[in-house]
Amino acid sequence: MRFGLVGTGLMAQEHIRNLCLVDGCEVTALVDPRQESLDWARATLGGRASATAGFADVPSMLAQARPDAVIVSSPNHTHHAVLQPLFGTGIHILCEKPLATTIADARSLAARAAGHDGVFWVGMEYRYMPPVARFIEQVHAGRIGRLVRLSIAEHRFPFLPKVADWNRFNANTGGTMVEKCCHFFDLMRLIMRDEPTRIFCSGAADVNHRDERYGGAVPDIIDNSFTVVDFAGGTRAMLDLCMFAEGSEEQEMLAAIGDTAKLEVGIPGGAITCSPRQGSVSRETVEVDAAVLAAGHHHGATYYQLLAFLAAAKGRGPVGVTAEDGVAAVAMGVAAEKSAADRRAVTMESMNWGSGVSNPSGVQGQRPWPS
Ligand SMILES: NC(=O)c1ccc[n+]([C@@H]2O[C@H](COP(=O)([O-])OP(=O)(O)OC[C@H]3O[C@@H](n4cnc5c(N)ncnc54)[C@H](O)[C@@H]3O)[C@@H](O)[C@H]2O)c1
Repeated sequence: MRFGLVGTGLMAQEHIRNLCLVDGCEVTALVDPRQESLDWARATLGGRASATAGFADVPSMLAQARPDAVIVSSPNHTHHAVLQPLFGTGIHILCEKPLATTIADARSLAARAAGHDGVFWVGMEYRYMPPVARFIEQVHAGRIGRLVRLSIAEHRFPFLPKVADWNRFNANTGGTMVEKCCHFFDLMRLIMRDEPTRIFCSGAADVNHRDERYGGAVPDIIDNSFTVVDFAGGTRAMLDLCMFAEGSEEQEMLAAIGDTAKLEVGIPGGAITCSPRQGSVSRETVEVDAAVLAAGHHHGATYYQLLAFLAAAKGRGPVGVTAEDGVAAVAMGVAAEKSAADRRAVTMESMNWGSGVSNPSGVQGQRPWPS
């Protein structure tokens, strides 16, 4: 499988390291308008870079090279334009999250993806972290009885510096609730197996990047929030985001509570704890292979997502994260941003996101990761 990488910044380096772990994958094309980023990718490829051509944009690549698959890892606000010439080429596409920065762009991409003659996959890879995947399996297998509520917390470090500082402004990212939290909104839909109806988000830019200036402008991205999501079937979920908590031992914590038990998982620890209302607590730890861990910053998610993407591209598995999943996560993020700005609850119906999605894609039955 010959891969092209579009946007060869930080996340592309992680994709390259993971591609190097899989037999039969090679990187044959790099696309980035910045020479420094192309050089960065070549350095990551090391001895494998000799088989790789560099291009300034996608049309130039398509004129000279036809990879079998492309990973789009350019900034969020460029996804829509970058993807256009790739549709209809037969090239399998893995587009990094978020699918787009607006609901209108996400919907227009999903419409094009529906007619695309290859796999189209959105990189909401947290589903593929082995401890999270195991947690989801257990919730869906009924270990906590009837799922009633889900809470997700991310307590982490501030946004990293990015090429040309694109991630400091909502206009480029869609806002933190889209850019970062699309992962968690995707997990909520997947775990609840339901669609959101109403979102209330209280959030603000309180601590991070306050002393930074870009052409005189101060970053406007939320750095902490609480978000409550009601689902159509009556369940509810909550997201607790804090991006000035780099000292936190666990970075992500998920807790699902059903009518018979509570199930928790922590990342990076990988410990899953089941606490029934009656009876004793049980614990297990889901380990991730050391080479896989070393290839990325997402606890193995990028690698196991890649395996699932390859299976789909070879016709041996389903598309795990569809364009419609991408639209839904963007719509929830946009609703959360609006809720925080307007200081009121926002109905998903009012977001005009045109779901039509009644059956979120799932990891059930798919096990590209080790059990
Ligand atoms: N799945 C995850 O957990 C995860 C983690 C980090 C980033 N991401 C996503 O990956 C994408 C890239 O993020 P990053 O951290 O690598 O940013 P980055 O700034 O490090 O790299 C982006 C690169 O894209 C290039 N670029 C800009 N415009 C382009 C265009 N039109 N065509 C091709 N290349 C272009 C830039 O020159 C830069 O080299 C974003 O969508 C981001 O949200 C996903």
